[in-house]
Amino acid sequence: MARILIIDDDPAMVSVISDICQEKGHQTIACNSGQKALEELATHAPQLVITDLKMDKVGGLEILRHCREILPQTPVILITAYAKVESALEAMKLGAYDYITKPFKIDALLLAVERALENHSLVRENRSLRQIVREKYRFENIIGTSPRMQEIYGLIAKIADTDSTVLIQGESGTGKELVARALHFNSHRQHHPFVAINCSALPENLLESELFGHKRGAFTGAVQDKIGLFEEAEHGTIFLDEVNSMAQPLQTKLLRVLQERQIRRVGDTKSSPISVRVLAATNEGLLEKIKDGTFREDLYYRLAVIPLEMPPLRERTDDIPLLVQHFLQKNAAHSASEPRKIEPSAVEALQKHTWPGNVRELENAIERACALCDDHLIRVRDLPPQVLRSAENPTPPPRLADLPSPAASPALTLTSPASPVSPATTATSTHGTEQQTLREFLATQQRTFLEQTLQSHQQDLAAAAEALGLSAAELRRKLGLASPRRTQASKPARPARKNAAAI
Ligand SMILES: Nc1ncnc2c1ncn2[C@@H]1O[C@H](COP(=O)(O)OP(=O)(O)OP(=O)(O)O)[C@@H](O)[C@H]1O
Ligand SMILES: [Mg+2]
Repeated sequence: MARILIIDDDPAMVSVISDICQEKGHQTIACNSGQKALEELATHAPQLVITDLKMDKVGGLEILRHCREILPQTPVILITAYAKVESALEAMKLGAYDYITKPFKIDALLLAVERALENHSLVRENRSLRQIVREKYRFENIIGTSPRMQEIYGLIAKIADTDSTVLIQGESGTGKELVARALHFNSHRQHHPFVAINCSALPENLLESELFGHKRGAFTGAVQDKIGLFEEAEHGTIFLDEVNSMAQPLQTKLLRVLQERQIRRVGDTKSSPISVRVLAATNEGLLEKIKDGTFREDLYYRLAVIPLEMPPLRERTDDIPLLVQHFLQKNAAHSASEPRKIEPSAVEALQKHTWPGNVRELENAIERACALCDDHLIRVRDLPPQVLRSAENPTPPPRLADLPSPAASPALTLTSPASPVSPATTATSTHGTEQQTLREFLATQQRTFLEQTLQSHQQDLAAAAEALGLSAAELRRKLGLASPRRTQASKPARPARKNAAAI
């Protein structure tokens, strides 16, 4: 069923076409003047427009032009008298989807309508498929195995497919937007738009009309009706980034939208219902803002139905080696080259830094190091100055201090021959429980990384192995798949120390 706007200055014609369309189960909006139609376009956002070409004052061509501007995906069918076919052809050049000549047969009209609607839904579907493929914001893009991240995954899995409002809190660069996208793309709304807006990027009045749209003439410069982002996100998700920077009058309006689930365009007197999931992010503590009176408490509770706190990177430095490998791979994919390798001492240095810019800063550091390094190997000297300073002057104790020395272990590489850590290996370790824990941790990281790679190759073991620089048999063994000797834990295939380097 589609929403069809039918425009003709002959009311009899409008009613005939409406009847034909309604008979097929479509919802119709009848309109007897071109001028009125311009308003109806913005009000109803129809999925198809059928308009007479020649009307007094505002004709079909103007409607077509207006529709192309505000609803570029909506097809327009023109109706014209036989003698005017040439101008109909002209209109097709301007982007009309089809035209029918008067008098027309019912079947001809229905055929044109169904074709246009089919095309419209294909365009939409294609757009959202492309978006999904392009963005591919699923869990596998969120890297980290630390307990804090495990908690986040658990929470995302639980709440993704609900309609609850989520407030994602965290310092800059901690992955708030990544999580917002994961929530959307793992929800039933995934085939509908994900619309993100940074609330700090626009002055208050512009932000209001951006969010809610406006009526023509609502303010100077509002020369035509405009659809807001809430309406654009219909059936999908809107992500209000940096909601902490929203001015108070707008906070009040947002609160009303969340309470009533209706939006009213600037300058409009009517509200219309919306079905949009709201996700918001803040990089400031909102409770402090409530205390100093700059953020509405009631809005906070509406937004934070489910609060989600992204940990700063310095509180999950255990995730750094895995993130580093992820960014090395990402970098290689962008430059269509082999992933760079990185010395263990460089990873240690990265783990000593406090990362005020969090994962984004780490990503940039790796990109920079990839560009600067010699022989495809990233060394400590290739790291940014602030990281080197932290490494020289470490505050927290080094996390990987107990690992074999860089000289004894090869550069961290996915191709080094290693087998999963066996319980016997760790149990007989002479390095005590601390090292046992580290080994277990590294083995888990290795496993997660291998599984993520396998997943990103659609479980194609051979392809994943190739990407990892392993043989399929090696990968199978590392993953513990169908290996008859896997249970012989007392006899590890390789010396234990190499396991530590093989993440
Ligand atoms: N856990 C993660 N795994 C992989 N990449 C991550 C992770 N967290 C963040 N990133 C990457 O770091 C960069 C910053 O992430 P994102 O934009 O989601 O952060 P943010 O919290 O929204 O930052 P800001 O507050 O500055 O807007 C992105 O390139 C993102 O892909
Ligand atoms: Mg962000």
